[in-house]
Amino acid sequence: MLKEITTERAVFATKIGAVATTVGSAVGLGNIWRFPYEAGVHGGGAFMICYLSFVFILGVPLLIAEFVMGRGTRANVFGAYRKLRPASHWNLFGILGIIASLLIISFYAVVAGWTAEFCLASLSGQLEFASEEARHEGFMTFTSGSNSVVWTLIFLAFNFMILIGGVTKGIERASNILMPIFFLLLLAFCINSFFMPGFGEGMKYLFYPDFSKISPSVILGALGQAFFSLSLGLGCMMTYASYFSDKNRLGKTAVTTAFLDTLVAILAGIIIFPAVFSFNLSPEAGPTLVFEVLPHIFYQLPGGMIWSTLFFLLLFLASLTSTVSMSEISISYFSEEKGMSRSRATALSAFISLVGALLCAFSFGFLSEVTFFGKNFFNLFDYLSSNIALPLGGMGCSIFVGWFVKRKFIKDQLTDFGTFKFRLLNILIFFLRWFCPAAIFLIFLNSLGIL
Ligand code: TRP
Repeated sequence: MLKEITTERAVFATKIGAVATTVGSAVGLGNIWRFPYEAGVHGGGAFMICYLSFVFILGVPLLIAEFVMGRGTRANVFGAYRKLRPASHWNLFGILGIIASLLIISFYAVVAGWTAEFCLASLSGQLEFASEEARHEGFMTFTSGSNSVVWTLIFLAFNFMILIGGVTKGIERASNILMPIFFLLLLAFCINSFFMPGFGEGMKYLFYPDFSKISPSVILGALGQAFFSLSLGLGCMMTYASYFSDKNRLGKTAVTTAFLDTLVAILAGIIIFPAVFSFNLSPEAGPTLVFEVLPHIFYQLPGGMIWSTLFFLLLFLASLTSTVSMSEISISYFSEEKGMSRSRATALSAFISLVGALLCAFSFGFLSEVTFFGKNFFNLFDYLSSNIALPLGGMGCSIFVGWFVKRKFIKDQLTDFGTFKFRLLNILIFFLRWFCPAAIFLIFLNSLGIL
């Protein structure tokens, strides 16, 4: 007899697998590439202190809010708002999330393409440049050339192939093995940093807060980075939580995710900044910072080529587990709300990402002159999504869960329908109702120069 065809949604097979996948979404280029470059541009310690505060006082409650909405409704981001408040306009936050997720994949795929190119260039010995100038030149030629476009496309093709295979199989298996290896490699480089001449200076830059450097743009940048790194604000974590089993403890998963994600970002900082000062580079290089600094670190070690290849390979894979989670936002929307088959939904999401990614990849080449408010496509997509859409989406989700979702619904999700206790419920609801939305709103006003 034919096996019964079920229409049930997929569920992550194991509890640990679900946590690993969530961490896999959070850990990616946001930690290794974006965090050091943002911290470098925004003055180091001053940025760090804002970032850490935002992760724990805003990020954790919002992660829990997304988890509650996702697992409680078992729907995509649009559907989650719709199910909880039918016939309202709240689902516009779902639409915002879907659009912003596609913008993020667009520039993310370009940077992930650089990691692929660097991995291969390490393997073939091309990354071992004779001088700093040659390295800088090499990187600039690469990003503006057609190679980078090809690598972006290759990355998107990998992303597509994983997604077409479904949620539980590919992603879960890959993240379970990959993330621990990546973590060990980062630890090894951290230990290596300790022996660099610029260690003290680098650590001071990263951890010593010069309060006079805290400005509206530092605060907004840190907020955007905290949300970006935690995959928050667009319903990404909501979508993943909709695949959690009923046994996943949401509060614990949120704290574990925030802790591990932040740890990886801090490790990346400890790897990058001592090297920046040891090799007399500038911390303010921007998006290219990490790509210019890392090879310096690898190639002063014995077996540089191996370190370099391995690192960029793992970073490439860590990026994949993140873009897979971003793509899932629009794919689950297209398939559940628009009635498309999963493969069609995946193809549509891939096509939109492809167009966006081409615009971003060419921003380093012939589109570099096309700017909006002084930003090319790459920077514009990053700014609009990270500094505007993520905080706005986070604020919407916070107000929604705090004010419009029944307390019992939240409690049931957090206690597994009364199986265990969740002691912080009142504090959580207070944060979601008042503190998080107010803080985000004030940061917005502040950045507009109104406050
Ligand atoms: N957090 C991931 C990183 O640090 C990026 C990411 C994945 C993301 N999903 C997201 C960012 C959803 C914003 C929204 O690399």
